[in-house]
Amino acid sequence: MYTKVMSGENSPFDEFYYVDALAGTGLSEYENGDCFLGSPILASKSAAEPFKKMYFIEGDTNNAEALEARLELAFNDSYFDVQEPEDWEVLPGDTNERIDDVVTDIWRQRSPGAKFHTLTFVDNQAMDFDWVSMEKMAELSTDFLVTYQGAQAVGMNINIEATHRGKLKDHFGRNLWDHGLETREDYKQTYIKQMRSLFNSDSIQIPTKIYSGRKSYDYDVVYGTRETKNGSGYVDAVKYVKEFVENFDGRDVEDMIEVINGNQSVMEDFLPKNAEIDESLLGGNNKDEDQRSLTDWC
Ligand SMILES: C[S@@+](CC[C@H](N)C(=O)[O-])C[C@H]1O[C@@H](n2cnc3c(N)ncnc32)[C@H](O)[C@@H]1O
Repeated sequence: MYTKVMSGENSPFDEFYYVDALAGTGLSEYENGDCFLGSPILASKSAAEPFKKMYFIEGDTNNAEALEARLELAFNDSYFDVQEPEDWEVLPGDTNERIDDVVTDIWRQRSPGAKFHTLTFVDNQAMDFDWVSMEKMAELSTDFLVTYQGAQAVGMNINIEATHRGKLKDHFGRNLWDHGLETREDYKQTYIKQMRSLFNSDSIQIPTKIYSGRKSYDYDVVYGTRETKNGSGYVDAVKYVKEFVENFDGRDVEDMIEVINGNQSVMEDFLPKNAEIDESLLGGNNKDEDQRSLTDWC
């Protein structure tokens, strides 16, 4: 959706970049051994237009090496049908340190006079990405897609004063101990409000709740973007995806695996009906075929 809107004729931007601030290994494994594409490969595979450059930051050395090898394979073996961006780089190391290199490099890569835009994906496992890093990315024009761990990482620490002086402070950019916030929801709303403050003009933050199906394990994925006056249909499409995802939980994963393995009709059966959105934004390059079979990637 992002690359479609950014490369569309109404877009004021000439170039777009992708930053995966917590990139992982390129794959994740389901408990039965099936493998799923991770965000670096999915983002490359489903981009309607290739990014000018994609940055993948990963702190674990083994993960970073695995990711680099998988991307090399995915981009160079036509069997996998993943389009290679104009340029890409895996940056091993702490994301809160490497983010400076990314920002500097985007300025360097930019074609003279080009207006550029960035999609920043921050897939926090815990409170990994510091607020100061969010601010650094926000100095570029960027949309954010942020995993906010409101139940586990943040939620489990809100009553611990020491964490307020440590990791919680880094994550929110300030010590919230004496701010009268009581519930997990208060903290989530504060984070979302802070995300809004990163944009110079009107912006919209769309939190999407992800239910695992297990007790007390859920999180939000917050999409932050500027609201455009003429409306690209983009925000409506993001809200539509929110509805789709929120109707889903861990118990539905088995059904989805059946779909991906070709044993059950089609992905569209899961979509909410009668949504008034621009459907062309939802189809990727290859609709249901982003992952052809789970064994392809193992
Ligand atoms: C939730 S996983 C990412 C999954 C990935 N987005 C995907 O779709 O497959 C988070 C990743 O961030 C890495 N990580 C955690 N803290 C980090 C840090 N401070 N700097 C860099 N990487 C970090 C972990 O090693 C892990 O691979």
